[in-house]
Order: sequence, then structure tokens, then C-alpha cells
Amino acid sequence: MSWDPAQYLRFAGERMRPAVDLLARIGTVSPASVVDLGCGAGNLAPLLLARWPQARLTGVDSSPEMLARARTDHPGAFFELADIGAWRPHVPADVVYSNAALHWLVGHEQRIVQLLEEAVTPGGTLAVQMPRNFAAPSHACIVEAIEQGPWRAKLEPHLRREPVAPPAAYWRLLEGRTAELQIWETEYLQVLVGENPVAEYTKGSWLKQFLDRLEGAERTAFEADYRRRVLAAYPPEADGRTLFPFRRLFIVARRR
Ligand SMILES: C[S@@+](CC[C@H](N)C(=O)[O-])C[C@H]1O[C@@H](n2cnc3c(N)ncnc32)[C@H](O)[C@@H]1O
Repeated sequence: MSWDPAQYLRFAGERMRPAVDLLARIGTVSPASVVDLGCGAGNLAPLLLARWPQARLTGVDSSPEMLARARTDHPGAFFELADIGAWRPHVPADVVYSNAALHWLVGHEQRIVQLLEEAVTPGGTLAVQMPRNFAAPSHACIVEAIEQGPWRAKLEPHLRREPVAPPAAYWRLLEGRTAELQIWETEYLQVLVGENPVAEYTKGSWLKQFLDRLEGAERTAFEADYRRRVLAAYPPEADGRTLFPFRRLFIVARRR
């Protein structure tokens, strides 16, 4: 799928909150090397460099559009075009940080284990945040729009109904392999402005992969169908703003 950095960054403030919360729980004090896996437009580079100014920061992403924006906006960091499903560091990093990226990989559970064991130094940290809002209307309306429209045959094979497992599944996977393991969920009450802002929010991320598979009038009709459903599910408050609760899963694992 292609990424649109401008659309994604329309909600940069909301998307930044979990990134800050994830960073706050990492205990590694002065890492020499930090990798931001699935770094996108590099928007978290200032946050990571403010916490660890001495570290060499490398952002890794497979989107040329996102990396172009990252390189322009953040000349102090290094950026690498690579698939995070296959990427390997030249030498293991003290911190591997990944905000809102690993859920894009089918089979990310095994990849998380592999990253911890092969990409992180002994005593170093793997920190992961993934959205887990897929049962909420923002994402359930995508499934409904796909299943109930003439585009079903094209889009349904690409649906992943539960891309991120419950927290306990990651605990069972990682517990025996770590020196310290923290797993938690947070539901953020996001307060958005604008017309149909939940549709605009998902258009910058999960919805985009399906829009990209359609063209012309069919794409327009699919988006309109989704927008109608999601607007009904998230009506504006009296002051015009929209409440959009969003659940996210966090993992902070320290390697033995
Ligand atoms: C939702 S954005 C998150 C960007 C940034 N981490 C943030 O928190 O703002 C997801 C990013 O993951 C990247 N991504 C998804 N699958 C990937 C893959 N297989 N290899 C590399 N990057 C990938 C996308 O290109 C995109 O930039």
C-alpha cells in the first residue's frame, strides 16, 4: 500500500500520545543505538533524540513517500528503506522501538520474538505499540462496508479481522524469554474536530489499503459507504467535536 504522510500527520497529536507513553516505560538509560522500526515520516525522531541525545538513531520503513518526508524534516537521524518483516541490523541495537507498525505484518507475533532475540543487545529493550481498535466501529465499519458492497470479491481476501491478539497472548509468547516484561492496554479518548473526522483518521492508516485496491467511481462509492456508516457510529457532540475512543496495546520487553 502507498502512504500519504500529509493525511497520516493530520492527526499527529493523537498519534503521538501512545508513542510518548511507550517511550516513558523503557528503562534503558543511555543506549548507543536506537532503531525506530516502521518509522513512517520520522515524526517520532525528535522524541527519541530528546530522550537519548547521545544515541545513533536509525529509522526503518518501506514507504518511499514516508521516508522522503522523514529525510526532509529530520536531517539528524539516519533512515533506511527496508521491509521490517525481514530487516536485520548490522549489529544488535540497545533499543528497538516500534510504534504503530508491526501489526501490518501477518505473523508479527513470531517476528516480535525474533526481533527480541536477534535485533536487541543483551539487556536491551524491545518496545512495541500496536492499535487494537479493530472491534470498534471505526474498523468494524470497514469490514461491514466491504462485506455488503459490490467490491466484496476484490477486498475481502485482504481483510484481517483480528490483526492484533489480546494482551495475554503476547505475555505467553514472551514471558519465558525476557528479563523483564510489561504489557498493557490503554484506551485513549481522542477528541477530534472537523467533518467526519473518524473517517479522515482511518483514511490515513487502516482504510487506505482498501481504498488503494479500487479505482475511479468504485473507490468513491466504497469510501462514501464507509463514511456514512462511520459518521452514524460517531455522531458529533453538541459543540461539533467528535469523541473517538481508541484502544492500543503496549509491550516493553527487556532481553536477558
Ligand atoms: C501507522 S504508520 C506509523 C509511523 C510511525 N511509527 C508513527 O508512529 O507515527 C505505519 C508505518 O509502518 C510502515 N510499514 C508497514 N509495513 C511495513 C513493512 N513491512 N516494512 C516496513 N515498514 C512498514 C508504513 O510504511 C508506515 O510508515
